[in-house]
Amino acid sequence: MRKELERVGQQALDEITRAKNVLELEEVRIRFLGRNGKITLLLRSLGTLSPEDRPALGKLSNQLKNKIQKALAERKQTLGSEAQTEVISLDITLPGRRVWFGRLHPLTQVTQEIVEIFAALGFQVARGPDVESEYYNFEALNFPKDHPARDMQDTYYLADDIVLRTHTSPVQIRVMEKQRPPVRVVMPGRVYRNEEINARSFTVFYQVEGLYVDQHVTFGDLKGVLTAFVERFFGPGTPLRFRPSFFPFTEPSAEVDIGCFLCGGKGCRVCKKTGWLEILGAGMVDPAVFAHVDYDPEDVSGYAFGMGVDRIAMLRHGIDDIRLFYENDLRFLRQF
Ligand code: PHE
Repeated sequence: MRKELERVGQQALDEITRAKNVLELEEVRIRFLGRNGKITLLLRSLGTLSPEDRPALGKLSNQLKNKIQKALAERKQTLGSEAQTEVISLDITLPGRRVWFGRLHPLTQVTQEIVEIFAALGFQVARGPDVESEYYNFEALNFPKDHPARDMQDTYYLADDIVLRTHTSPVQIRVMEKQRPPVRVVMPGRVYRNEEINARSFTVFYQVEGLYVDQHVTFGDLKGVLTAFVERFFGPGTPLRFRPSFFPFTEPSAEVDIGCFLCGGKGCRVCKKTGWLEILGAGMVDPAVFAHVDYDPEDVSGYAFGMGVDRIAMLRHGIDDIRLFYENDLRFLRQF
């Protein structure tokens, strides 16, 4: 009997240590201390012992039972806290890992928006090369050789007569060389100028050029199309004004301002207290330009305009530093 008690007791302790989780442990408890458990049955059989053997064996059985109960309780606690760590590692309240979607650069978005407005007004889309000859960038646009306007544009020269285009206007020439009037195109693209880098200017920026050539095109048509554009892009009722200006390839020429939509024209930091924001250059195509593409200025007339996408995007989004567009900091880009 004593031997049997010790053997079963040891077996119980072994199984308790081997139990891998709380469920298995409960099965062990039932197998030994349950109603028909091995220890329970042994304790019950104590009654059949002789009165001399009973006290010693009774004491031993109680000790064993206590020991097993203690071992069960301890094991339960260890398994319990392990289960808890398991739960923590699967904490469903943790925020999920965010999947970031790619998106278009804010300048691309604004370019597309501008182009779409003009497409809806009947304009086609054309593109030209970033690397241009002096001929397209200057000469055909009526910038004579040694004209100070060539310096004005701070040109990057790649070779003697090869430049990084300083504006999108050379695309006008490329389109007119290939196509007879009527011509109605917008020409988006990247342009380059050797300018000081600061919050307002960068060496690379974007423009959208526009050109309409047909019979009887007037300055009134130019005003009409730009008004339609400004109202669609900046909102109905946005005022605009034309200031006399100069470009070698347009005559007359104008710079176009829109009423500052931040202060409503009262004057603020963004419009530098003027109430107006300059967004583009424009004018009637100079007859000297038509001569380069073999259009007859007696027969056709046209208007052209060129707008700065970066500036328009900065106004649209309230961005005060153009360099942000070119740093590709994801914290900036993900906001658009
Ligand atoms: N090309 C001019 C510039 O870059 C803008 C312009 C385009 C002006 C077309 C008039 C007509 O400043």
